Amino acid sequence: MAKTMSREIRLASRPQGIPTAANFTLAQTELPPLPEQQVLVRNLFLSVDPYMRGRMNEGKSYVPPFELGKVMDGGAVGEVVESRAQEFQVGDVVTSNFGWRESFIASPKDLHPVSREIQPLSVYLGTLGMTGMTAWAGLNLVEVKAGEVIFISGAAGAVGNMAGQLAKLRGCKVIGSAGSMEKVLFLRNKCGFDIAFDYKVGPVLEQLNVEVPDGIDVFFDNVGGDTLQAALAALRVHGRIIACGGISGYNAEKPKPGPNNLFNMITKRLTMKGLLVRDSLDRLGEFEKEVGAYFRAGKLQNQETVVPGIEQAVDAFIGLFAGKNIGKMVVKLA
Ligand SMILES: NC(=O)c1ccc[n+]([C@@H]2O[C@H](COP(=O)([O-])OP(=O)(O)OC[C@H]3O[C@@H](n4cnc5c(N)ncnc54)[C@H](OP(=O)(O)O)[C@@H]3O)[C@@H](O)[C@H]2O)c1
Repeated sequence: MAKTMSREIRLASRPQGIPTAANFTLAQTELPPLPEQQVLVRNLFLSVDPYMRGRMNEGKSYVPPFELGKVMDGGAVGEVVESRAQEFQVGDVVTSNFGWRESFIASPKDLHPVSREIQPLSVYLGTLGMTGMTAWAGLNLVEVKAGEVIFISGAAGAVGNMAGQLAKLRGCKVIGSAGSMEKVLFLRNKCGFDIAFDYKVGPVLEQLNVEVPDGIDVFFDNVGGDTLQAALAALRVHGRIIACGGISGYNAEKPKPGPNNLFNMITKRLTMKGLLVRDSLDRLGEFEKEVGAYFRAGKLQNQETVVPGIEQAVDAFIGLFAGKNIGKMVVKLA
């Protein structure tokens, strides 16, 4: 029988500041013959995500750091090419967390079946995958309701654009900030945001004061830093913050001081809740049913930036920190 060769990307060294290609290596491995009760999967799309940057640092966090010399694990969607387990047939499509590699062998319990009928299959990494679920879980976390005004940072990214679209479906007024005019137009014209602005052309608080002079009820924070400081000032009494991400600080070599206006938490009786999507995994079925129905009904715009070839995975990942993606950044394998 033909050998199965698989290329994979490993972490070679821990980045200082913004990661570079030198922090990674591309290696080739030969997979063993498929054991009983196991499945051989060929990946079709790999996910590159900002949270992976934190896992490249040493030290304790909510997930263990990536190990040097080992493959970068993370989300992927692939198809079964050989099965010795009754749970899966050749041709089935599955999501998994075995990361930046072309093929792998796994137990059925580590694979999640998804329908081939929904295309493109990369949708299971974004809109109907981890980032879509993050957006959905965030809105649920602070019970976002019809009529509320929600401001979303990092709005043209994978989580942000979904948070805005789902908030619109809930009947909210939605404002987003993003890093270019192309992204602003995407939010306004394709995602139905009521207001979108470029945070690079002027201070966020000034832009918020012009666009929503009466303030905001909810802030969905993907970015942290100055944008969080601006939102603290713009929030109304009893406003809520969904603390989802802080990408503006992920490459900082020393942590930056936090917002200088936290006293707003007291004077306005604000609530800030931390979000980890993995806490909602027991609600995966509910997410797939609700958001899958919106998707099938054509109510959600699925935006992706697709980079071809495993050789480009590192560039795609680094590109997240330069804002090179609109919607979900994915790597398409041959
Ligand atoms: N809590 C959870 O469970 C969870 C789960 C998934 C993701 N997250 C977090 O959610 C956030 C968004 O993740 P995502 O997967 O949707 O990524 P993404 O938004 O699709 O991609 C990253 C985007 O961040 C923006 N960005 C990069 N550097 C920035 C900076 N210094 N200041 C402001 N914006 C910057 C860029 O857009 P611009 O061009 O607009 O700058 C870039 O396109 C990240 O912070 C991530 O860690 C959290």
